[in-house]
Amino acid sequence: MSQIAVLPVHLQNKIAAGEVIERPASVVKELIENAIDAGSTAIAVDVEKAGRKLIRVSDNGTGMDRADAERAFDRYATSKISNEADLFSLHTLGFRGEGLAAIAAVTRISLVTARQNTTGTALSIAGGSVEDIRDCAAAGTSLEVRDLFYNTPARRKFLKSDATENYHITDTVTRAALAHPSIRFTLRADGGEIMLAPSAASYRERIMQIFGKEFVDGLLETTAESAGLHAHLFISAVSMVRTTRTNQYIFVNNRPVKDPTIQQAIYRAYEEVLSRDQHPVYFVFFTVDAARVDCNVHPTKREVRFQDTSLVFRLIADAARRVLLADAIRHPLGPGHSSESALHYHIGVKAPMPTEQYPPPFLQPDQRDMVAEASPEYTPDRLPFIYLGDTFVAFSDKAELIVMDYHAAHERVNYERFLDAVQMPAHRLLFPQQVQLQRHECSALLENKALLHAWGIEIDDFGDRSIIVRSVPDLLQGTDLASLLHDVAGALLLQSEEPVAAEDGVSALPEPLARKKRSLAAQLACHASVRGREAPDAYRLAQLIRSLALTRDAARCPHGRPTQIRMTMETLRKMFRKI
Ligand SMILES: Nc1ncnc2c1ncn2[C@@H]1O[C@H](COP(=O)(O)OP(=O)(O)OP(=O)(O)O)[C@@H](O)[C@H]1O
Ligand SMILES: [Mg+2]
Repeated sequence: MSQIAVLPVHLQNKIAAGEVIERPASVVKELIENAIDAGSTAIAVDVEKAGRKLIRVSDNGTGMDRADAERAFDRYATSKISNEADLFSLHTLGFRGEGLAAIAAVTRISLVTARQNTTGTALSIAGGSVEDIRDCAAAGTSLEVRDLFYNTPARRKFLKSDATENYHITDTVTRAALAHPSIRFTLRADGGEIMLAPSAASYRERIMQIFGKEFVDGLLETTAESAGLHAHLFISAVSMVRTTRTNQYIFVNNRPVKDPTIQQAIYRAYEEVLSRDQHPVYFVFFTVDAARVDCNVHPTKREVRFQDTSLVFRLIADAARRVLLADAIRHPLGPGHSSESALHYHIGVKAPMPTEQYPPPFLQPDQRDMVAEASPEYTPDRLPFIYLGDTFVAFSDKAELIVMDYHAAHERVNYERFLDAVQMPAHRLLFPQQVQLQRHECSALLENKALLHAWGIEIDDFGDRSIIVRSVPDLLQGTDLASLLHDVAGALLLQSEEPVAAEDGVSALPEPLARKKRSLAAQLACHASVRGREAPDAYRLAQLIRSLALTRDAARCPHGRPTQIRMTMETLRKMFRKI
């Protein structure tokens, strides 16, 4: 007897939905894209309980008549393409005809829609089939999705905290709003306004609406065009880099995507300037003829494939490098530097800062005492140090050759200092500094105010998406507060998704708190480390080596990379073929 049977349609749809609808933000993405494709000029998104309870997307686009409204929920039902050739001349975000079918398979839906000046349709769907359909008055389309994953409990269990799911929803709306500046976007969560972006005249204006003026002023803008490819870039000046990959946006033909070619092109431009843990902020708006890019690579349409990958890479890398170079020439380092050396420092080496503003690179006086008695054999006059580039130093110790990455070593020392601190000595700012962030970043920081306070970072709500910083720990004096808060908020929002290796004294805390502390301490240590500043002198290096020896894991930085590489006499003998 035959053992193979075709699955019933509702099960096919449920399986297919798994690829498209991962979390509440995926529903928001599909619905917003449909609203954009319908020619809307205003799109409103409302969510309750991070989208678990309700997601509503309302638009003022073309709407649907009754027959289309019913058909829209069938799998492979679309008005956007009709033959294979259309796949390579796409002018819409949707084309697979499965967005609504996927949503309908895992939620309860009510839809209200009407074509202009006609009677509208109200329709409700549960478990993929129409339960009720009626005439009603309507303009545009409003689609309400309730009880996400009510019939797929396994999926529901994989959802993260409300804060994390709200973060993904905000990120989705942000990306759509950036890609379409002329459309008015609003996002409300549990009745509170999260984003309001009125119709904007340019990408720059839209970025400003969402991220604030100070943020946009730190970006360098340029455009480039070649062989039918066009790129409009906003990238961070070297002084505005981050320690996380937040605020990196790529759009291809107004579609938010993840694209390794464009990402690598941007990183290539910063290659000489940034270290491995530093990341630029960038917005890349790239356009190319629809025939030269394949958007049908992944069910979520988050990836594309270019016909001319190397042309794309070159156009973007060159444009980004040119604008960084021009910025370095415009902003020499100030007194004492010729513009040529400024350029070398700025572009060729690391982010500059006037020397007077440097925080003391290594240990504070009280911390020096703490390590003074350890490893007495380490005294500066007994250690000839050989500096290799601006990252490594080599020295010998008990018949071993050691090459140390002093940034990584310093991060390890500072990381443990943050982890072990009960109350860090704070430096009160003479002029408390106001920092503008996105709303969900502000909430993440304010929710963790007490934790940050223990590290000497005193913050308060300053309204209108701003935080006021009143004090910072001595270790962080002189760091750029905007990028510090941004990175800390990024770590808070993402920490539930990115576990940090458990290896230290905070393991006794309940797991989520311990993880949060570790990931924040790693961020703070990164900001407090010597990266981007002058090489430590021999005295400070000796101190660093002593402090590192006292840490719980001297071999690795908080991100797990080596702090030092040791070559024993035996290894050397083998290398020289003496044994
Ligand atoms: N907000 C809307 N306004 C007008 N028509 C809509 C709206 N949402 C959906 N539709 C219609 O319903 C159809 C099905 O939508 P669905 O999202 O399932 O597929 P699609 O957008 O065509 O392709 P994809 O699966 O790639 O999103 C669309 O092609 C469109 O004709
Ligand atoms: Mg769609």
